[in-house]
Amino acid sequence: MDIAFNNYRELIDKRLFSFLEEETERSKYCKNNQKYPYTLFDPLNYIMSGGGKRVRPILVLLSCEAFGGDINNALDAAIAVEILHNFTLVHDDIMDNANTRRGKQTIHRKWDVNSAILVGDELIGLSYRSLLRAKTGNITGVLQAFTDGVIEVCEGQALDKEFEISADVSIDDYKIMIRKKTAELLRTSSVMGAIIGNADKTGIEAISNYSENIGLAFQIQDDLLDVIADEGEFGKKIGGDILERKKTFLYLRALELLGGKERDDFMYMYNSNGSTDSKIKDIVKLYNDICVIGSAKDEIASYTEKANKSLNCIQSSNARNLLERFSGMLLNRSY
Ligand code: IPE
Ligand code: IPE
Ligand code: MG
Ligand code: MG
Ligand code: MG
Repeated sequence: MDIAFNNYRELIDKRLFSFLEEETERSKYCKNNQKYPYTLFDPLNYIMSGGGKRVRPILVLLSCEAFGGDINNALDAAIAVEILHNFTLVHDDIMDNANTRRGKQTIHRKWDVNSAILVGDELIGLSYRSLLRAKTGNITGVLQAFTDGVIEVCEGQALDKEFEISADVSIDDYKIMIRKKTAELLRTSSVMGAIIGNADKTGIEAISNYSENIGLAFQIQDDLLDVIADEGEFGKKIGGDILERKKTFLYLRALELLGGKERDDFMYMYNSNGSTDSKIKDIVKLYNDICVIGSAKDEIASYTEKANKSLNCIQSSNARNLLERFSGMLLNRSY
């Protein structure tokens, strides 16, 4: 990760951990030297201290700064979106049967599904509690953007699950799905930052276009990394999407490129229960052979370019340059 963003990350983590400590300590009670409810707070601290790139809160801060705002006013909204994002991850791992995240066991595996559901619910509450502290004259606008984001993620996740068992999914359908499950939360982050930075309507529209496009690139790249990343670095199982029969960009692009028997065989293999590691290997080889990997890279680059173009409508500044550097960093990420 680019060191240009280290100071933002430090500010975010400082505010995040002091908020969480304050909130969870206040709610705890002690009996026989045990702090309760430990089934909630142990996994909550585990997920929140497990790392993460902090993409969404950095976007909040940069988007605030790009319009001349003070990032200290945006920190509560920044950590709110990071807390919300962690809720989506905990529940996503249940839905995707994932065993590892950020190089560690997922919550529903280390504890159980009930704990993971509850931690997710608690994180939503905590995210709103932090958001309500945002220093802005337009708290309604901020709350509206955030709430829209929550609803979009849920709808996107539903589509993601519905597509697993559908044979009738196009790349256009896929784009609707990833816009909702991933891009909308990045967009929300930027819009909240811009509102807190007192951006005007044109400014909000420009930053909204920027972050929506990097959000689309971000999810296609996540699909790509799911097959080409180094497992240790990525922190999630390679081929996890293949095992869950996800309708990823790679799968759908392969269906577009293949024809006849090859296409039928590929669909059959992808949707079969076959022995897992060799199935992943065969599919990744095919993705390479028919240049689906290259096609995904082109798509990611094209959304990133589109994102950067939107920045032209914002007055030039150090923060605007950082936004361009930010999309470049995401484009070259390996986890
Ligand atoms: C993972 O998000 C979920 C997706 C939307 C692809 P991130 O890749 O931002 O996860 P962390 O927070 O850095 O672990
Ligand atoms: C995640 O999509 C989108 C969310 C809303 C969390 P994925 O299911 O691909 O995310 P990872 O790969 O598990 O992080
Ligand atoms: Mg998922
Ligand atoms: Mg997942
Ligand atoms: Mg993924």
